[in-house]
Order: sequence, then structure tokens, then C-alpha cells
Amino acid sequence: MIRTLISDALKRSDFGADVNIKGWVRTRRGNKNVSFIALNDGSIIHNIQVVVDNEKFGDEFLKPITTGACISVIGKLVESQGKGQNVEIQADKIEIYGTADPETYPLQKKGHTLEFLRDIAHLRPRTNTFGAIFRMRHHMSMAIHNFFHERGFFYFHTPIITGSDCEGAGNMFQVTTMNLYDLKKDENGSIKYDNDFFGKQTSLTVSGQLEGELAAMALGAIYTFGPTFRAENSNTPRHLAEFWMIEPEVAFYEIAENMQLAQDFIQHCVRWALNNCQDDLKFLNEMYDKELIDRLNFVVDNDFVRLTYTEGVKILTEAVANGVKFEFPIDWGTDLQSEHERYLVEKHFKKPVILTDYPKEIKSFYMKQNDDGKTVRAMDVLFPKIGEIIGGSQREEDYDKLKQRAKEMNVPEKDIWWYLDTRRFGTAPHSGFGLGFERLMLFVTGMSNIRDVIPFPRTPHNAEF
Ligand code: 4AD
Ligand code: MG
Repeated sequence: MIRTLISDALKRSDFGADVNIKGWVRTRRGNKNVSFIALNDGSIIHNIQVVVDNEKFGDEFLKPITTGACISVIGKLVESQGKGQNVEIQADKIEIYGTADPETYPLQKKGHTLEFLRDIAHLRPRTNTFGAIFRMRHHMSMAIHNFFHERGFFYFHTPIITGSDCEGAGNMFQVTTMNLYDLKKDENGSIKYDNDFFGKQTSLTVSGQLEGELAAMALGAIYTFGPTFRAENSNTPRHLAEFWMIEPEVAFYEIAENMQLAQDFIQHCVRWALNNCQDDLKFLNEMYDKELIDRLNFVVDNDFVRLTYTEGVKILTEAVANGVKFEFPIDWGTDLQSEHERYLVEKHFKKPVILTDYPKEIKSFYMKQNDDGKTVRAMDVLFPKIGEIIGGSQREEDYDKLKQRAKEMNVPEKDIWWYLDTRRFGTAPHSGFGLGFERLMLFVTGMSNIRDVIPFPRTPHNAEF
């Protein structure tokens, strides 16, 4: 018999039909005569209720059907008499695929803390919370591909292993096949990479942007969507060592069009969540964040504020003068801290904010320099509860200016000669940005720790599973 997904079975009303359902037992309760098994197969947050005539199967047979066990049930689809569901199954045949010893299966009761569930990340997808989050992760991925595909962007695959540091921040994970117990060094004590796998020093990518730009200079509009690695030792609820980033890059776009693309993109994804993830969103709204759905609707319906860094600093300085306390000082030239970003978004404007034209010293070498000689055409999209969700810019298309800035910022020309070449051959204005997928996931799920929106988080001192 062909298996029916619970998501499909719950929609049916052809009562009397035989169906085969397979899934994991959430609970079994009942009395001497009848058992009720709540079965979940991951296709939807809801369980289907299996009604079992105890006499028909025998207590010995039913005993191992406990929370966590996996079973297959053949039975009749019937209209439910009980509250909470329309459809249930009257069991004719049950096959037990795998039991789960109640003494050792960790997911016995509801209401485990998120911290506890992180320690059992191999089992947490079986909870309502993580089922909802990981289904939404899938839907958000689809939303992203849909958005760009519909607009004629090409999905472009950039390398994971790279010899250049796009962000110039030096927080890369090195990739090597060298014997770390026996490193060969030259007369200056520097490690010799000639015999390493690639014959040079390589790392895991911190961004696909540089290669993405090469593609935009040929295909017009591209996006990447792939794993990204940063060895920053920041143990915060918003940083991962391995995360997923989406990076569109568009030829002929200036900063204003880039900002509009960023707004349209996020709004599309959030609208997609509202339209495609209703059950899961309702659950998360109820359990974790009563304002979640309202907040999502608000973002879809309202334009993001556009503001320069200089104006932002002015607002923050005035706030401090009026008695607002921040942990970190504000002054023009230093990077904004998360607390500052969130003040602008949550307290001052009460809207997402796109901050532009940052001081060049705190931004990457590739950003287009403004005529003031002090700022670059950067843009960060700042979100409620999250802080920075997108970082991007218009790119410097002038060969000499770009080369000069790379030199000033100690980006070795030998690592990026190919990138500089795009400015020698048919250069053009262009722009792009990077969206941290897990930051978007934080926003659409209402979760507050980034470790809870990726299946197997990698953070300092944690690479279990
Ligand atoms: O602002 P970032 O560093 O920008 C870039 O990497 C550019 N090359 C993007 C581009 O213009 N194509 O990172 C972009 C976004 C951030 O806004 C944030 O959402 C996310 O990536 N991000 C992280 N997410 C989780 N954990 C981390 N450690 C992250 N670092 C950045
Ligand atoms: Mg950034």
C-alpha cells in the first residue's frame, strides 16, 4: 500500500478509505480498551491520531509503542469524534519499525529548554519547535531562489576553498593537507606552502562576492547561496562560524537600486513565509513570540528608512545627550555596535533602516569611494531584534582607485589580480549585498539564538554532530 503523508491525510474527507501512515510516536495515552497514538511524520506540524482497539492487538504488542518509536499503521480514515482534529485513523495493522526505550529516549516530555535541545541536536528535529523551524528553512530557501529566478538573476556557484580574503578581516579557517607536526619553514621562519595541496595558502571562503562580481560582469545579474565560514571568536546569539549567505551582484546598479533590491528581496521572503508557513508560524507565534506575525506583516507593508551613517551617528549622539545609556561610546568613525543599530531600528524609527555611506576605514577595500574622500557607498540593512541582516555596497569600478585602496588596506595584489582585471577590461558600475540566511531565519521564526535556526550549529568550541 502506498504511504500517505500526514499533511495529505489531514486534508482528506473520503472517510472509510484505507490509508497507510508512517511516522514517529509523539504520545500514547488511553485506557484499558482503547489507545490513542499521536503520530507525526514531519510533513506538517500537526499529528494524526491513531485509534487502537487494545484487544485486537494485545497489550504485549502495544507496550513498546512509546514516545519516539517509529511505526507504520494501516487503517481506515474516519471522521474524528474528539476535539482538536477532523480526521483520525482506526488501526487495522501496525508494524513497529523501531522502538525508543522510555528510560533513555531524551524527548519524553514537552517543554524542554532550547539549551537542552541544543545538546541533542541529533534528535531535536523531532520536536514541534525544530520541525517548524527546519520546514521554514526549506521554504525560505525556495523563496530566495524564486525571487531571483523570477527577476532573471542566475544562480552562480562560487568556490568554497579560496586563496583570497574578500572581507580582509583575516578571520579565515585555513585549509591544508600539510602535516601539522612537521611543518617546513624557510630561512625567515615562514611556513612553506609549495608542497601544500594547492601549492599556496588557502582557506574556507568568508564571502563569494569577489567571484560573484566576475560573473555579474558577464551574466548581468547573479546571486550566490552557499556556506560561508568565519573564524571570529564571537560567542553571540547572532554569529556562527559556518553560516549560509545569499549574495546578489548586479551590473549597472547604483546604491539606490541596490537598496531597493534589498528591501524587495526581504519583503518577498517574509511574505513567502506568511503565505506558505502558516501552521508553523502560528505555533512559533503562540509558543515563543506573540508579536511575531504582526512584526512580519509590518515589515512587508512598510518601506525601510534610508539614512546615512553620519545622520545615524547624529541621532545616537543626541540620544546619549538625552540620557540614553549605551555600553559602547558613539563617535563618528567607529563602527556601530549592535545596541546602537537596534536603538535606531527599535526605538527611534520603529522600522527597518538602511544605513549608507560609512567611513571608509571601517569598511572593505572594494567599496566605491565617495567624493568627500571620507566615506564609501556602503549599505547595511538593520532589523528589529537582529541588528545587521544585510551588508552590501556599490563597488569601486575605477581600476586605479581600487588598486590604491587595496594597497592601503594591505590586501595583497597577488591574491586579487583577477579581481582587479575586471576593472581593466570593460569595467562598469555595479552593486551587490550579502544576506545572512540565519539572520533572516531568526527574523521569520522569532527565535532569539542563531544556534536554533541552523540544524547543526558551528560555534567556538562546538562542532558536535
Ligand atoms: O557584512 P558582511 O561581512 O558582508 C559581506 O560579506 C559582503 N561580501 C557581502 C556582499 O556585499 N556581497 O556579511 C553579510 C551578512 C551580514 O549582514 C550578516 O547578515 C551575515 O552576512 N553574517 C553572519 N551571519 C552569521 N554569522 C556570522 N558570523 C556572520 N557574519 C556575517
Ligand atoms: Mg557587515
